[in-house]
Amino acid sequence: MDAGLNTSGVKQEIFLKDYTSPAFMAETVDLLFDLDEDTAIVTSRVTYKRMDSGQSNLVLNGGEFMKLLSVNLDGHLLGEDAYVVTEETLTVKSVPDVFTLTIQTELYPADNTRLEGLYKSGGNFCTQCEAEGFRHITYFPDRPDVMAVYTVRIEADKARYPILLSNGNPGKTGDLPEGRHFAEWYDPYPKPSYLFAVVAGNLGVLSDTYKTKSGKRVDLNIYAAEADLEKCHHAMAALKASMKWDEDVFGLEYDLDVYNILAVGDFNMGAMENKGLNVFNTKYVLASPETATDADFDHVEGVIGHEYFHNWTGNRVTCRDWFQLSLKEGLTVFRDQEFSSDLGSRALKRIDDVRLLRAAQFPEDAGPLAHSVRPDHYVEINNFYTATVYNKGAEVIRMMHRLIGAQAFRKGMELYFNRHDGQAVTCDDFAAAMQDSSGKNLDQFKLWYSQAGTPTLTVTRERDGGDILLTVHQSCPPTPGQPEKEPNHLPFLMGWIGPNGEPLEPACSNGVWQEDGCLLEISNSTETFRFKDVPTGSVPSLLRTFTAPVHLKHDLSKEEKLFLMSHDRDPFARWDITQDLLRVEILRLVDSYKDGKAQETVDKDVLDAFGTVLADESADPAFIAELILLPSENDLGQYMDVIKPEEIYLARTQFISQVADAHRDIVLERYKKCREMLENQAQYSLDKNSKGLRRLSNTLLGFIKQTSSGEDVCCEHYNNATNMTDQFAALSVIASSEFQCRNEILANFYHQWKGEDLVIDKWFMAQAMSRRDDALENIVNLIDHPDFSLTNPNRMRSLVMVFAGQNQRHFHANDGRGYNFLAEIIVKVDKVNPQVAARLVAPLGRWKKLDPHRQKLMKTSLDAILNAKHISDDVGELVAKSLA
Ligand code: ARG
Ligand code: ZN
Repeated sequence: MDAGLNTSGVKQEIFLKDYTSPAFMAETVDLLFDLDEDTAIVTSRVTYKRMDSGQSNLVLNGGEFMKLLSVNLDGHLLGEDAYVVTEETLTVKSVPDVFTLTIQTELYPADNTRLEGLYKSGGNFCTQCEAEGFRHITYFPDRPDVMAVYTVRIEADKARYPILLSNGNPGKTGDLPEGRHFAEWYDPYPKPSYLFAVVAGNLGVLSDTYKTKSGKRVDLNIYAAEADLEKCHHAMAALKASMKWDEDVFGLEYDLDVYNILAVGDFNMGAMENKGLNVFNTKYVLASPETATDADFDHVEGVIGHEYFHNWTGNRVTCRDWFQLSLKEGLTVFRDQEFSSDLGSRALKRIDDVRLLRAAQFPEDAGPLAHSVRPDHYVEINNFYTATVYNKGAEVIRMMHRLIGAQAFRKGMELYFNRHDGQAVTCDDFAAAMQDSSGKNLDQFKLWYSQAGTPTLTVTRERDGGDILLTVHQSCPPTPGQPEKEPNHLPFLMGWIGPNGEPLEPACSNGVWQEDGCLLEISNSTETFRFKDVPTGSVPSLLRTFTAPVHLKHDLSKEEKLFLMSHDRDPFARWDITQDLLRVEILRLVDSYKDGKAQETVDKDVLDAFGTVLADESADPAFIAELILLPSENDLGQYMDVIKPEEIYLARTQFISQVADAHRDIVLERYKKCREMLENQAQYSLDKNSKGLRRLSNTLLGFIKQTSSGEDVCCEHYNNATNMTDQFAALSVIASSEFQCRNEILANFYHQWKGEDLVIDKWFMAQAMSRRDDALENIVNLIDHPDFSLTNPNRMRSLVMVFAGQNQRHFHANDGRGYNFLAEIIVKVDKVNPQVAARLVAPLGRWKKLDPHRQKLMKTSLDAILNAKHISDDVGELVAKSLA
């Protein structure tokens, strides 16, 4: 299959270089939603203005899944000879320069399982328009550079749909005949259609208010099912904290009278920043100690922040076209990361973010779906809501922030808003604001937007008298369509630890010492830095805080790594060097496997160092938990030329067992102490210390599992759990074990939480992650479980995505059953919801990293998807690229 052509043959590949500005601008949009139980009639009245005198026809997007009822131009009903309708467009012929077009369409939201456009979730109406959902509501120039002012009127049955919401500020409301009512909304800020939203439902509401720094009062409302309202308090607190943070850090205030959030159970992504009316996946709103883990609480805070921050970075200034998606997403992820760092622990947040980048973005960048932060072609834009656009995009912003400094960055943001408020702009416009505010030339830096692939930095040292010459060499592997790469411009932060463990600050000819280390700027493929008078036995602490999204290779010995592990005062660097040490050690075990048996055991020094970390009472328990959390099986695989799933699983388990054996007493002791401290607290708390204690004791469970008292401790942990953090930690360990109590506990969890969708997701997840020998069979059978559902994205992801993405051992089952299972599900889900199906393709596409036998099986599965009848553009694009 050629890229751009697929079995339906509809969608063509589109290219950034073909961008042209809109031929017509929409200035005002008036929408009337006449909602019935299953259908809706939408009347849209739009005033258009011609921008390009060479275009006599108005071409609008739209067509699929809706019926055109009428077209009316300046008050005259148009006959069918005045317009042309194709599958994806409506063309109105020979229109005047300025005119009003009124279009009526009929929609079928109750049948909309794609969850794009207007759909129903839990009996309520809601919308998802990003990226191209608005075209399934009415015919419109559905592109982000057409920005208009919207007025909306919603009419529906009053008893069934008491709550009627849209963007902006509330207007008139009132009753209508036959038990119906209406509500009007007006959004004064011009916006692109992807930010449009409408909601009608029977919902409870949690309300609060916020006073902005200039004294304006904002009404805050979180709408959710009545029974879930008590779980909305954390989200509300996070919203208020976000509003305050953006004022403090960037001087940005909220700009409407109300901020509404709706939580829905069926949602393709995390959440959506519609102007004044965010729609959220319940997963990122609802949280109570009983039903949500500490990590869930953090995610709620982060996503609430993310959507709130979009109000400026995304809504007030938006993207010119979808190639610029990272303009708003990379920047907004950076902002939500900074928000969470400021509210919690900066080091822990950075560790989490880097772990995610390495787990999700690096494999993407190394595989067949690699694309740059600003892609230059696509078939289906929904396929580009990726870790590269979001997370690597955030790293690009973070590098700019480091290169020009926090002050110039803030000035750059101000300049960006001064120049572009109310506009749809490009990544170049953003970089220009940063360049102009700082005076730093960012031309070479912008290669980060256009070049895909993860660069590798190789650091070597050479002594020259009392000095050390540190050489950094960079290279970047080819990616699809980009065989050669130019060197990147990047910040490289590092430190030195002296022979007695003390921090050193040797002068560097071309580096600048800052608060957290010496900043080296790298822009050539090889650069050498001279550090003056470095005592013998000093060790460099490299790439502190991960100042660039790269692979790092260095010549540090095991002894030097162990030295850094105990002496580096930079917590991120300490964590990272520990990961490095553990990774190398586990991979050594993997390499030693012969005939199903490891020929090596864990290095004594590494074991001892692990013991020292475990016994360290002075460090933050959450940080200890990070240090002892071993690199995942997926992570280890990335460092092998050919991934050996079974050996990786065995070696990693062997490592855990040996630690558990060697340090049994310390592990149990530490665990007990954490639990006692938690039990002595009057009540469950989300403070830093309690979270840390839970994190450490729950991480220790993984080691305790491998000891003779494993079953007792884990089952007791489960039975005593009073919150989901503890309960789920125990459940995960037990679900993956051979314990006697396993089936009983899984059944117990299910019955306790039946009906709590987000918790039942966890029940599926725990089984999807199981490494037990029989796990795959169990996972395949769970598809037939009455609570499994192809139509609910969260449920799908909990079982299928978690399995394919995180259970390396069983996904890569040697007989190909894991691949077949995934391929079959993809084809089935594709008929229901192409976006969700497409998100499952990536794991099958990474066949180049496996042995020839598995490669063949994986390609066969990809072929099977391609050969299925009527696959979507979404899935078609990714499968074709995966086979190329
Ligand atoms: N803009 C949203 C966010 O990151 C994501 C929505 C994308 N949805 C989609 N179907 N592609 O906050
Ligand atoms: Zn976003």
